[in-house]
Amino acid sequence: MRNVTKDNITDVFMGYMSPDMSPRMREVLGALVRHMHDFARETKLTHEEWRAGIAFLEGCAAIESEDRHEFVLASDVLGLSSLIDMLHSSDDATSSSVLGPFHVSGAPPLEIGGDMKRHYGGPVLLAEGVVRDPEGNPIPNATIDIWQTAPNGLYASQDTEQDTYSFHGLQTVGDDGRYAFTTVKPVEYTVPSDGPVGDILRACGRHPWRPSHLHYIVEADGFRPLVTEIFSEDDPYLDQDTVFGVRSDLVMTYEKRPAAEFPSGMALSGQISEPYLHVTFDVTLARKT
Ligand code: BEZ
Ligand code: FE
Repeated sequence: MRNVTKDNITDVFMGYMSPDMSPRMREVLGALVRHMHDFARETKLTHEEWRAGIAFLEGCAAIESEDRHEFVLASDVLGLSSLIDMLHSSDDATSSSVLGPFHVSGAPPLEIGGDMKRHYGGPVLLAEGVVRDPEGNPIPNATIDIWQTAPNGLYASQDTEQDTYSFHGLQTVGDDGRYAFTTVKPVEYTVPSDGPVGDILRACGRHPWRPSHLHYIVEADGFRPLVTEIFSEDDPYLDQDTVFGVRSDLVMTYEKRPAAEFPSGMALSGQISEPYLHVTFDVTLARKT
């Protein structure tokens, strides 16, 4: 095409794509370019703004590393990661939520009733529940990979003071689908805001806080893996999670119970002298199709 104009450039781009290309690639790339062109036309994007966008991408690339995934973080704070999660979550299952960049694979086994807080102080939280199929039957041998920050708001992978698997555990549920463990009540924390993503947050007048949460990856043979997290209903950031991870079925009441009611059969049984918190979070997995 010799006569490319601002009005026909999108169609020209589509025409340049080979008929041999993969249909899905054509659909996704074509839609991306169509939306980018419409975006530039709608906003009358200037050269300076285009350059600022390129500088943002370069800034993300400059600090991208094994421990710092600035592009993923950008997707998280722009709502794209959560939108993709929701587009592919199953109506039959507990809601999914963001994985985040801080999960460490290979967590040590955490026996049913085990303790994840170890020597750390803070309000004791007993979390328990049952993993079920969509008909409500327990799923024996499901695994739950659990992780959270230490009370200082940092994940093990961000904090040289913590062991590799601090506040990480892998629990295999019993024949009754039941899991249970103790930890400290998670705290709210900030996502990294010292890079280009922080600049975006500040430009939007937004803060970098996430409401406190416990992350779970629940897996079982024949079922779709579920990446999710649970939140406490009293958290001040519940209605303004900077990565858009909150879903109503993931917001739980952490009930305060007297020490005398702490159950037997837990690693911390007999050691609890203060009131503790209790949460029940049952998980439903969707069948693989
Ligand atoms: C997290 O919950 O660990 C997280 C999620 C998205 C971005 C940063 C952290
Ligand atoms: Fe998190």
